[in-house]
Amino acid sequence: MIQRQKGCNDIYGRNAKVWKYIDQVIDALMEKYNYTYIRTPIFEATELFHRGVGETTDIVTKESYDFEDKGGRKITLRPEGTAGVVRAYIENKMYGDPNQPVKVYYNGTMYRYERPQSGRDRELTQFGMEILGSDDPLSDAEIISAAVNLYKMLGLKEIKVNINSLGDASSREAYRKALIDYFTPHIQDFCEDCQERLQKNPLRILDCKVDKDNEVLKNAPKTLDYLNEESRDRFEMVQNFLDIMQIEYEIDPNIVRGLDYYNHTVFEIEAKVEGFGSNNVLGGGGRYNGLVNQLDGPETPCVGFASGIGRLAMALELEKVKLPIVEDIDLFLLYVNDDEKKYAAYLAQELRLAGFIVDTEYTGRGLKGQFKQADRLGAKFTCVLNSEDLNNNEVTIKNNHTKEEETISLDVLIYYLDEKINAGMVEDFEEDSCQCGGNDDECGGHHNGKCCGGHCHHEEE
Ligand code: HAM
Repeated sequence: MIQRQKGCNDIYGRNAKVWKYIDQVIDALMEKYNYTYIRTPIFEATELFHRGVGETTDIVTKESYDFEDKGGRKITLRPEGTAGVVRAYIENKMYGDPNQPVKVYYNGTMYRYERPQSGRDRELTQFGMEILGSDDPLSDAEIISAAVNLYKMLGLKEIKVNINSLGDASSREAYRKALIDYFTPHIQDFCEDCQERLQKNPLRILDCKVDKDNEVLKNAPKTLDYLNEESRDRFEMVQNFLDIMQIEYEIDPNIVRGLDYYNHTVFEIEAKVEGFGSNNVLGGGGRYNGLVNQLDGPETPCVGFASGIGRLAMALELEKVKLPIVEDIDLFLLYVNDDEKKYAAYLAQELRLAGFIVDTEYTGRGLKGQFKQADRLGAKFTCVLNSEDLNNNEVTIKNNHTKEEETISLDVLIYYLDEKINAGMVEDFEEDSCQCGGNDDECGGHHNGKCCGGHCHHEEE
């Protein structure tokens, strides 16, 4: 049997519904923040990531999927979304668009040759958003607030926002020197890669996966102590905007991020839910003012964020967040003979076009087996099509919950189902009763002021 590749996942069944739901929430959220969708290629010239993400990062040196195509071009499967967005921004001259800044979001697969474990895959799906063309600290705060709001909209409560600042170029240079001075006497105790990193890019020693438990790291200099006045003021302004937006955060001077393009604000959002394990960072991002220029575009200040969808789905599951996912069908059509089957085909078509979720029998099961299938699918109603009823232009429809049966004219079937299902006269079997106790205020007004019937998360503030 051919098996899937290590670190890759098949997303199907309920999990696929959760992923789809997350995608919908992302689209709705991004609309509110006025970001437009951008889709860039999954593979790009290898050089883009070397120059963009950084020659000495793990992502480029150890984790990238590189290959040569049939034309001898050096190609890399994208390990992250930012470099491709920046390439597209420059190539399509989006900087010339009068509508500035450019606010875009993406949601797609990325590839990193990592050691697979829970929450760490080789094929991962990332949602990301980028603001290109603004240096305003408000845009840093907006990105952080959008990330937090995404998690909140999905119903996650156990999250923690950690922020830090790497400062501008001169602050970063001062910090670099301090790191070299600090690590030089201890560097023999570090891995070979770190020994190389010392002069090339000492910041990368701080997020080395091999030396992460080395005691020397604990007392390493902190970025905040090397910020110049301008960088410190800027970081304070970001915090002021976060306070205004009522976004809770903590300053974590240990955040440096594993990609080279950052300066000023960097942040990570953790899931604090039990069982999440060590890969508990739901998403991260920061400001990257130099990247557009580094990739041959004009000086353009930018800020962005990305979040792994797999980790997000896992956090939702571990927090047992109730999601409004449709798992039940409205009606299952049962039949025995060929004429009834043809009628099932006709009726299924009509009712689906009218908006109902309808299924029927495709595997030759008898009536008993069909009833079992209807139960498995959580059918709200079942309808045994029999020739006698059909000749009388009637159907007998059974409420699968109350077990009540009614024989109605076929002409009114759509209205009947509409009234019973869409007017909320039938309970979803899987749903608990609404936790807000019918109190519209506690529903947060999410449902046009109506009690949601158990569909929302009822954030208990
Ligand atoms: P990153 O921290 O490398 O940042 O990745 C962002 C998120 O992608 C992580 O927090 C995690 O949720 C998810 N992720 C990363 N690697 C894996 C993996 N191997 N398996 C599962 N999930 C993973 C970036 O990629 C930056 N481009 C973010 C950014 C956008 N900065 C500015 N703009």
